Amino acid sequence: MTPSTSDVTVEVNGNRMEMEPIHDGPYAGMPKEVLLKYSRQKKFVWARNILTACVILTILALLSMVIALIAVSPACQKFFQTSPIYQIYPKSFADSNNDGMGDINGIRSKLAYLGDDLNIETVWLNPVYDSPQIDNGYDVSDYRSIWPLFGTMADMEELITDLHDRGMKLIMDFVPNHTSDQHKWFNASSHPNHTDHEQYKDYYIWVDSTNGTSTGLPNNWQSVFPGNANSPAWEWNENREQFYYHAFYKEQPDLNLRNDQVLQELEDIMAYWMDMGVDGFRCDALAFMLESKSLRDNPLKDDTQPPSYENMYPDYTENQNGVHEIVASWRNLLKKYSSEPGVYRFMETEVYNEDIDIIMRYYGTEWQEEADFPMNFLLIDIGNDPSSWSGKNIEATVLKWMQNMPQSKWPNWVVGNHDNSRLVTRLGEKRARCTSFLTLTLSGTPGIYYGEEIGMTDYSMSDQTDFRDPERTPMQWDDTATAGFCYNCTPWLAVNPNNNDINVEAAKTEPTSMLSMYQDLLQLRSEVTFLRGWLCVVNSTQRSIVFVREMTGTQSYLVAINFDDGSSDTVDLTAFDTILPESGEIVAASDMTTSGNRQLRNLQIEAETGLVISFKRGGYFNQEASMSGRCFNPRKVCVNVIGLLEVC
Ligand code: GLC
Repeated sequence: MTPSTSDVTVEVNGNRMEMEPIHDGPYAGMPKEVLLKYSRQKKFVWARNILTACVILTILALLSMVIALIAVSPACQKFFQTSPIYQIYPKSFADSNNDGMGDINGIRSKLAYLGDDLNIETVWLNPVYDSPQIDNGYDVSDYRSIWPLFGTMADMEELITDLHDRGMKLIMDFVPNHTSDQHKWFNASSHPNHTDHEQYKDYYIWVDSTNGTSTGLPNNWQSVFPGNANSPAWEWNENREQFYYHAFYKEQPDLNLRNDQVLQELEDIMAYWMDMGVDGFRCDALAFMLESKSLRDNPLKDDTQPPSYENMYPDYTENQNGVHEIVASWRNLLKKYSSEPGVYRFMETEVYNEDIDIIMRYYGTEWQEEADFPMNFLLIDIGNDPSSWSGKNIEATVLKWMQNMPQSKWPNWVVGNHDNSRLVTRLGEKRARCTSFLTLTLSGTPGIYYGEEIGMTDYSMSDQTDFRDPERTPMQWDDTATAGFCYNCTPWLAVNPNNNDINVEAAKTEPTSMLSMYQDLLQLRSEVTFLRGWLCVVNSTQRSIVFVREMTGTQSYLVAINFDDGSSDTVDLTAFDTILPESGEIVAASDMTTSGNRQLRNLQIEAETGLVISFKRGGYFNQEASMSGRCFNPRKVCVNVIGLLEVC
């Protein structure tokens, strides 16, 4: 529209002014006054408002898209997801000063073995705190100092630095349920005349006798250790003329975790170690943290038998209300200590229970985060009876964890530790290989108990002091009398004489050794398909389990394990002939010998053998309707909602 002559007569400050119309464009060269006149017209005001609104809306939309994308994007994998957790029993790993006791500097001297030979990034140490060692360090007398035979706090700092320099992480054992009876808190708590008694008197669980004397036990609660019939969990204290509660040995009084001061002390201890640089905690015996205030008797499993820990349902002594709030508060603390880039503080919890829901609860809920994972002992719970190690039962065990695990959580698999007979002793060498083969190829974090990787076995000695000593003997580094654990020394526990054959040095040079199998699998599992890919449990028979690891755009692998020691097995996979080609290539075998191509549709697996077979897929198992409920992928750690793999 071209303005008419009259349009350019405007009033400015009460004076009418004639303005020169300029004709070389519709509004070109208009003076400010004229522009203002037009711009105030309703139609222009509207147009302008609409445009401004559009710009603001577009910015908001873009912003929310960015926020949404960040929110749904998969997180980079954390350290506990990319490496197995290698458990070191400090007394038995390596002794640097030849006093017969393993120590921190001994551990430092073996980091190349862990990091370079085994590709391990995460190490968990059983307790190294000062302790009278009634329960091998699980009776802590000072959470802020190191047991002198293990070394000094300076050694500990060096260990943390050495590990971090190698890109490795350190998990400490955290013992919140009880202290040693030699802890200064217990000393003050148990002595009414102690100058600090007032401050510490409620740090432990003190209960009056029912008859005023040491015979008036408060109830029938029994202690886990020594675990015989009639081992009351109550110990009489003459000074206070009261009983104190101990879920474990009497030298391990339970802390009163209903006391806020105690909770604060524990958080301060965690903070102390995180300030020192530790990367997380394995939290000990959490189920025992609270006891019912009602002090009701636990029901007996068998009324005709005397009370014992094994013969009672721990209805009033384990997994009581309130336990999860405590764990969640630790998670909050760990989060505060995870704010620096690249720093993440990890938590795993030790809870044994037959009820899977009770275990899973330690993952936390959608609203209340707790552990990164509760330790998964299902494979240990299977027991030692060879008939329990059927393909069907292993499948049921794997599915039990995976199907009950809350969405987006991370699985883990433990097959041995310092409280259980060693894997090879329980299952024999070949089946132990099969079991490690399983945990190293499933999705999730495998645990490796020191020496498991070379096939160490239990050794029962005559002068055994703890019933778990057989699985805690010195690491077998070589075939010398003291196994290279120490030199010219007497190890604190006798060396298993089978170190002649079973030792790291020999295993390193033997291409078919258990160690070589571990090395192969640890290498393989650093591939993205194993780290983040789908796990689809494809089929099982009485003898074998077959599962697949797959992921968009990466190599697919079939894992087939026959646990039976008698005969080979054939697993029918013809139902998947659109996905599986005729044959695939064996890329790892538990016997370190079997190789070549293998027919896949009727898959043959030798007795007590595990195979990883790579194949050119014709599709994805996780997209098959028939696989519903059998495929698992913690989505957040794999691909984002638009199907892109997060590269970290
Ligand atoms: C945990 C430890 C075990 C210890 C007990 C008491 O179960 O693994 O070794 O004896 O707690 O602290």
